[in-house]
Amino acid sequence: MSNENLFSLPTPLHSLIDFRQDKASCRPDAARIFAHLTADEYTQGHVASWRIFLLNMAMESFPQRPSSQPLVQLHDVKVHFSVRKGLFGSESVHAVDGVTLDIGAGEVVAVVGESGSGKTTLGRAALGLIRVTEGHVSFDNTAISALSQKEQKAFRRRAAAIFQDPFASIDPYMTAYESVAEPLVIHGIGSDSERRERVFQALHDVRLRPAQEIAGKYPDLLSGGQRQRLSIARALVLQPQFIVADEPVSMVDASSRAELLALLRELQKRFNIAFLYITHDIATARHFAQRIVVMYLGCVVEMGEAADVVRNPMHPYTQALIAAVPEPDPANRLHQRPSLPGEPPSPVDAPSGCSFHPRCASFMAGRCELTTPRLREVEPNHFVACFLHEGIDAYQN
Ligand SMILES: Nc1ncnc2c1ncn2[C@@H]1O[C@H](COP(=O)(O)OP(=O)(O)O)[C@@H](O)[C@H]1O
Ligand code: SF4
Ligand SMILES: [Mg+2]
Repeated sequence: MSNENLFSLPTPLHSLIDFRQDKASCRPDAARIFAHLTADEYTQGHVASWRIFLLNMAMESFPQRPSSQPLVQLHDVKVHFSVRKGLFGSESVHAVDGVTLDIGAGEVVAVVGESGSGKTTLGRAALGLIRVTEGHVSFDNTAISALSQKEQKAFRRRAAAIFQDPFASIDPYMTAYESVAEPLVIHGIGSDSERRERVFQALHDVRLRPAQEIAGKYPDLLSGGQRQRLSIARALVLQPQFIVADEPVSMVDASSRAELLALLRELQKRFNIAFLYITHDIATARHFAQRIVVMYLGCVVEMGEAADVVRNPMHPYTQALIAAVPEPDPANRLHQRPSLPGEPPSPVDAPSGCSFHPRCASFMAGRCELTTPRLREVEPNHFVACFLHEGIDAYQN
């Protein structure tokens, strides 16, 4: 089975959709057939969670990546935390260790990796929520560390976050209306009636219906999916140009995930918002993002157009992430997927040389544990840090 198929639908459904490199089409009768395809419970669940998302994806294609000046630029960003060790000692956690990444206006970039690889820290650095140890982050050509207080406030209007946990990110003592209105109040935007209009528009945009009824509810009366829609409305109400969405669907129930991702994609397109989409799930990254950045222990190990990375993963870590994607075809559902060998090592004491070497099936003794492979462009716009794809300039000390 090709990598692309792992990211698609059970076999009977797959034939309805024709994925191509930069364009996918969908037979017009697909939606009707999907509605009736309920072969068994597994298929039903699978289709329920994927059909809206994939149908949406299948009927459109992303525009080419904008070539203009990037909106967000991270240059050799390092974030090291100092943590206590024993009574008097301390040690340094290299959460992000030299990441360079540009995100264009309206572009969607997914950051993928296991837990602890530095994704959240990178997202927080991109929003200026965390001080970088080295390197710099700029937004619209201005270093965010150099912003005055007034400029920082303006930046907060233009860059927003959607966090993983909809239960923690919404104030339980505010009604849905108050939660969405709060950013407008903080930024002194609009009169009471203008705010009201914008809040209801945001509730409408995220399809929290009926908006009048939802507006008066406290979060404990909303489902996980509804709360996450509320977080999205809160982020949207300021009309940002850039959103960091950190595992936005991982804590909502499986049946809401596909709809939420499809909603985010729709809003991203409609308002031309640049997204840094953080996920441990390379399957959703493939469909949600134009580019995929794979992180391991704070470093980028592979980066490229989403279709290229999935179709032709070059780094053994990316290959292992893809191999571990659950089998979509119910006929093969008992087929055991290989899991990634071992645990990710601690960023306090990263392995020497290539930090993936203790888990790598292609490990080359005498090389991989001694020298760090550099991220290099192996094919156009496809970057990999691995000696299997080395060139004459592949080594750094
Ligand atoms: N505030 C912090 N203090 C100390 N260590 C931290 C802090 N935040 C994150 N880390 C550590 O940095 C590493 C990367 O964390 P994180 O960015 O949350 O990864 P991910 O989002 O990929 O799971 C982890 O080892 C984590 O324990
Ligand atoms: S550099 Fe060596 S250890 Fe690292 S991923 Fe490539 S082959 Fe594996
Ligand atoms: Mg995280």
